[in-house]
Amino acid sequence: MCGIVGYIGRRDVAPLLLEGLQRLEYRGYDSAGIAITGRSGELRTVKAKGRVRDLEARVPKRFAGTTGIAHTRWATHGAPSDANAHPHLDADSAVAVVHNGIIDNASELRARLSAEGTAFTSETDTEVLAHLIARSQADTLEQRVSEALRSVEGTYGLAVLHRDFPDRIVVARNGSPVVLGIGEKEMFVASDVAALVAHTRQVVTLADGEMATLKADDFRTYTTEGSRTTATPTTVEWEAESYDMGGHDTYMHKEIAEQAEAVDRVLRGRIDDKFATVHLGGLNLDPREARGVRRIKILGCGTSYHAGQIGAQLIEELARIPADAEPASEFRYRNPVVDPDTLYVAVSQSGETYDVLAAVQELKRKGARVLGVVNVVGSAIAREADGGTYVHAGPEVCVVSTKCFTNTVVAFALLALHLGRIRDLSVADGRRIIEGLRRLPGQIDEILKAEPEIKRLALHFADAKSMLFIGRVRGYPVAREASLKLKEVSYIHAEAYPASELKHGPLALVEPAMPTVAIVPDDDLLEKNRAALEEIKARSGRILAVAHQEQEKADHTIIVPKNEDELDPILMGIPLQLFAYHTALALGRDIDKPRNLAKSVTVE
Ligand code: F6R
Repeated sequence: MCGIVGYIGRRDVAPLLLEGLQRLEYRGYDSAGIAITGRSGELRTVKAKGRVRDLEARVPKRFAGTTGIAHTRWATHGAPSDANAHPHLDADSAVAVVHNGIIDNASELRARLSAEGTAFTSETDTEVLAHLIARSQADTLEQRVSEALRSVEGTYGLAVLHRDFPDRIVVARNGSPVVLGIGEKEMFVASDVAALVAHTRQVVTLADGEMATLKADDFRTYTTEGSRTTATPTTVEWEAESYDMGGHDTYMHKEIAEQAEAVDRVLRGRIDDKFATVHLGGLNLDPREARGVRRIKILGCGTSYHAGQIGAQLIEELARIPADAEPASEFRYRNPVVDPDTLYVAVSQSGETYDVLAAVQELKRKGARVLGVVNVVGSAIAREADGGTYVHAGPEVCVVSTKCFTNTVVAFALLALHLGRIRDLSVADGRRIIEGLRRLPGQIDEILKAEPEIKRLALHFADAKSMLFIGRVRGYPVAREASLKLKEVSYIHAEAYPASELKHGPLALVEPAMPTVAIVPDDDLLEKNRAALEEIKARSGRILAVAHQEQEKADHTIIVPKNEDELDPILMGIPLQLFAYHTALALGRDIDKPRNLAKSVTVE
């Protein structure tokens, strides 16, 4: 979704901002723009529909300044166009604003301002902010921004320049991330650390309701009401290089390839061999409380929801606590019964997905205990939750999630083991799971070695218009995630069904033109899964199986190494990530930025 970058210091600002915008390109956008404070204090802007390189081509040779803000826009109010791209200015070009989020009462504010004579130049909700700030008569820019924000309902991460206050950038956050980058006699602001980590790893993440003023050698944070807040910079865990492509042609390929390393990281320092358990420092759940949990409800969206579905099964199997997963986007709108003995777990790679955050806030308001399973440290969901665990996958740049999915499932396995060992999981079973977890990185590497064969299979199936994915119990969420991966990145229609449901409808779809991908683990359901393959074969369906041994009824089998039954789902989806990747490559898709999708969905 939209991205913000800002800089104040001594360096030439335009190249810095363009580089920052390029680092945010992965989030998905349709236009970009930049505003700087020129040498004599005037505000100058350049905007372009399209890519950051289109914007760069428009930046005049003489565009000098040392303070500026920039933006990549993902259209919500008004089509992608030069006029709708941010920054937005007031009529006198005194104020420039870049904004992520949505102003819910924008039409009401527009009508009011128009009636009072304000002429609008764009269709965006953001432009009202520029006019409101410009109209304020308050003494300081900080007061003018907070006065404008008092009229506004909705979500925002924003950065503001003002011609009359050329020594500062004022920023504010409510529901959309804002991170300050603290440098040596220079300050940065961005909606995502990716845009500033090449320059500084010292960051301050603003909380909702917080604002900040950045000057070249100083910053301060305060509430929208003006009371000072304390902000201690923390060090970003990742080097700038973690955000690079590292010799791969796409981020998706890089991120699939680094999964063994990522899983190693989520396990590191957490295993306790003596008690056959794991330590998860941030859970904030003592053993007595853990024993008192009667149900676990996992909430997430998209891929994270699928990881949560596998997580729920792991919790039921290892800890024997009833657990299920639900899309956070559905949960929050059905006035859910919030039960004090239920532990809620919010799962999100970005930690900023609006539907998940809103569900967490609703739960907290009703007094529920919420844990977060999150990748981005210090993100909104991580901060809002009562405790939780980080999945330590490292930065995931491709819009389509791969390594974060795998690490999230491993994090759930750790949580399930931890809860299990507090409850009734035996030492022997605890050891068995720990040994299984330790085998994962080596087994992932083994799977990745089969890439040439998986590529061959992808080319074989790339002409399909539609594909069916089936799995049973542990295999079903794997099938769902694999079908989501294929449709997102290749645009081939794919549908996932429990194998047990085939006879109840989807069998009608089976014919040679509708291939089936089947998840067939060697577990107690192997024969049942084989029966489903028979049913498909009998109707001339083509079958690609992912299994622990060759499947006679399948036309092709991708063999994955066997782990413990409970942990098999972690491995079985990985070849299908490569399958989706190579299918998309064969079809010439924009792999890292699939059409219509954005990396973090910070709006409803
Ligand atoms: C799919 C994908 C999305 C996200 C979903 C939630 O590849 O990446 O389905 O999983 O938008 O995002 P997070 O995990 O950031 O909450």
